[in-house]
Amino acid sequence: MTKQFDVVVIGGGPGGYIAAIRAAQLGFNVACIDEWKNAKGGPALGGTCTNVGCIPSKALLQSSEHFEHAGHGFADHGINVSGLSLDIDKMLARKDQVVKQNNDGITYLFKKNKIASFHGRGSFVKAAEGGYEIKVAGAAEETIVGKHIILATGSNARALPGAAFDEENILSNDGALRIGAVPKKLALIGSGVIGLEMGSVWRRLGAEVTVLEALPTFLGAVDEQIAKEAKKAFDKQGLKIELGVKVGEIKSGKKGVSIVWTNAKGEAQTLDVDKLIVSIGRVPNTIGLNPEAVGLALDERGAINVDGDCKTNLPNVWAIGDVVRGPMLAHKAEEEGVAVAERIAGQHGHVNFNTVPWVIYTHPEIAWVGQTEQQLKAEGRAYKAGTFPFLANGRARALGDTTGMVKFLADATTDEILGVHMVGPQVSELISEAVVAMEFKASAEDIARICHAHPSLSEATKEAALAVDKRTLNF
Ligand code: FAD
Ligand code: NAI
Repeated sequence: MTKQFDVVVIGGGPGGYIAAIRAAQLGFNVACIDEWKNAKGGPALGGTCTNVGCIPSKALLQSSEHFEHAGHGFADHGINVSGLSLDIDKMLARKDQVVKQNNDGITYLFKKNKIASFHGRGSFVKAAEGGYEIKVAGAAEETIVGKHIILATGSNARALPGAAFDEENILSNDGALRIGAVPKKLALIGSGVIGLEMGSVWRRLGAEVTVLEALPTFLGAVDEQIAKEAKKAFDKQGLKIELGVKVGEIKSGKKGVSIVWTNAKGEAQTLDVDKLIVSIGRVPNTIGLNPEAVGLALDERGAINVDGDCKTNLPNVWAIGDVVRGPMLAHKAEEEGVAVAERIAGQHGHVNFNTVPWVIYTHPEIAWVGQTEQQLKAEGRAYKAGTFPFLANGRARALGDTTGMVKFLADATTDEILGVHMVGPQVSELISEAVVAMEFKASAEDIARICHAHPSLSEATKEAALAVDKRTLNF
């Protein structure tokens, strides 16, 4: 007999698995179909984020940062390291182990929440009595029916025309996370989030890294002052970032990859490298979903069309995460997953897009929430700005990590916080305070009047809030 579920989730990434858990918590009978395979062909829940995204990239960022500290940072602390060497196989194996721990964690959570897990590709068959018929094509083939369907099929790396990914020489994020030997020369096309994070990993491990970026401005979505500070730090580290370039022919052969490109001055250049990582954004994934079978509407980018509540054009079919509009971030996908499960239960789940934080896990880290100064200017909004450098923060000095600053933007009249921008040590953690403040519509003065532990990096947040009113205490 066909198995019947209240909710069928297609995709077991952060959007899908969290939606499944929340729906199960709310008392629904839930199934989740995910097709990701581990190296042995078995299930590997967690999607892009867990398998070839957030988690493995952060594992390698951590390992490579330790290597850099041991090689260049410890000496300042009076710790001399000799005979430093790199075991890349072990580093990659550790990364794989971290991934596996996360895969296993989700499997455990599915069991705990009594979620039926199907390993295979889910595709629409037809609208059926009691919902939608979904075919699962995997080791075993079967058809299930869901009253509500949540689509969380994620995204794939965008390839450059004429330079298909072979994951040997021309790498997507997948290949970029498992290069078996440090390349002497590495190029990245696209200096967005992946370009900077993966470029940092391989530079720290010893590669000569060049990043080719089409846009004339560095990190255009980031507050200009913060982006400028970050660029200075990356230049100093030797991460070579070329802006305003036009990439031409790319040839891949036994000796590596040859890239023809034009620099910002219009001069023709050739770059020969051992490996090329293409990180020019991602495309929504509906491959194999068979949206035509039920008339599911996609937009011109191939994303599933949804309204503000993640409803598609079909009754009781919802879509969340990378496969729909909005930032391609794991925590955005998760919030949408929770909100949709709650809406199915008749509750009022809500995602506030204004307070979705961004973090780039380079060193220094970059983090922000809310509007940038250039956005406020373009809107003609009257605002006040306050900044505080980590150079004047006691904890940052003790850490030996004083690059960067915290910046507050607040409404000129009401003092409501409109945006907080950070570049510096551990700002991936510090940004949470700004998110909470903005969710509660706090003013800059609210943060300025809160007691922050001393010595801590969070005092830079308090001081930047004080700076909005030009009354910093330590600068
Ligand atoms: P995905 O994680 O892509 O999951 C979709 C799942 O659905 C996959 O398992 C896929 O196999 C499965 N699937 C697709 N179609 C079907 C089908 N028809 N049937 C069955 N299964 C199907 N975001 C952050 O917030 N922080 C970070 O630090 C971060 N780092 C990143 C680093 C890299 C290198 C990359 C590439 C991305 C990173 N991201 C990060 C982005 C983050 O990974 C995505 O935003 C997030 O994974 C989106 O979640 P999702 O659930 O929408 O989709
Ligand atoms: P991205 O959108 O961050 O950056 C792509 C860059 O490539 C842009 O700067 C763009 O101008 C440039 N570009 C596009 N076409 C080009 C071309 N033909 N030649 C040269 N440059 C070109 O995309 P990226 O880095 O691929 O990452 C994809 C997404 O994954 C991110 O947008 C983000 O949503 C997510 N992600 C998040 C992370 C985090 O939260 N820390 C880490 C990594 C990825």
